[in-house]
Amino acid sequence: MRYDHLISAAQLSRADVEAVLDRAAEIDADPTAVRERHAGKVLALCFFEPSTRTKMSFDTAMKRLGGETIDMGSVESSSVKKGESLADTVRVIQGYADALVLRHPAEGSARMASEFVDVPLVNAGDGAGQHPSQTLLDLYTIRENVGLDDITVGIMGDLKYGRTVHSLSMALTNFDVRQHFVSPESLQLPRSVRYDLHQAGAQVREHADLDEVLPELDVLYVTRIQRERFPDEREYREVAGEYQIDATTLADAKESLAVMHPLPRVDEIDPAVDDLPQANYFEQAHNGVPVRMALLDSLLGHTDSQSP
Ligand code: NCD
Repeated sequence: MRYDHLISAAQLSRADVEAVLDRAAEIDADPTAVRERHAGKVLALCFFEPSTRTKMSFDTAMKRLGGETIDMGSVESSSVKKGESLADTVRVIQGYADALVLRHPAEGSARMASEFVDVPLVNAGDGAGQHPSQTLLDLYTIRENVGLDDITVGIMGDLKYGRTVHSLSMALTNFDVRQHFVSPESLQLPRSVRYDLHQAGAQVREHADLDEVLPELDVLYVTRIQRERFPDEREYREVAGEYQIDATTLADAKESLAVMHPLPRVDEIDPAVDDLPQANYFEQAHNGVPVRMALLDSLLGHTDSQSP
């Protein structure tokens, strides 16, 4: 028997998204109701790249569901350092756990790894590919603030390497959302993502200047330039610092605008914005716990390794 894996936001239908978001809202309202729900189950955290929010919120989510977590630790301290393949690593770890969360620098790694495991695997970021659990918490935050239909969303920054962008833009095609993409020319959406968005019926509108669309926006999703993905540091320096917002930038925005960011931020959002009512990024990060609880609950519900 095979279990469901969450590898790409393209797997998520509108009904799937709504089911997780509704469940997350129930959990948010009363976290104690699920306190023992997955007692005795184990989630393995396999992070081959740095992480604060994703790893810690999955860890917290599993513990709040009554379960436990095991952590592969850093690449430096694991057998990966001895040259073990990703396939062997996940094949072994699945024997210790009821589900796996994987982050890896190679695009496509989560899909490949999922071929070797029979417990649910969540892609927590595969290089510049996808990051679907981040998308679920992004959608939750958008829904809480401005709703998910008949809205205009601007996504700004590193659209080329930003996996949160690739996942979010795809998932938004399930809803009545106008999407605008703001970036330097060199960091526009990859051709494959643009193609998938067109196929899903989205109109992709691209801009070099935020001013062109800011007054229309209900959501402004700011992203970090993904320095670690640039093959050439000089190319990074050419675009670094180009797309920043501060309190003055937001003077032309709607009062109800929700400014979001998957975090970590470097210098894209001036700290003075944190005190404005439009700032939503810390709330967004906190939403990672109830949303990941809801996601784990649905994925672990499929396993038969534990009694109900
Ligand atoms: C993002 C990621 O890892 O893709 N962080 C996160 O999971 N919240 C965004 C980033 O690193 O810029």
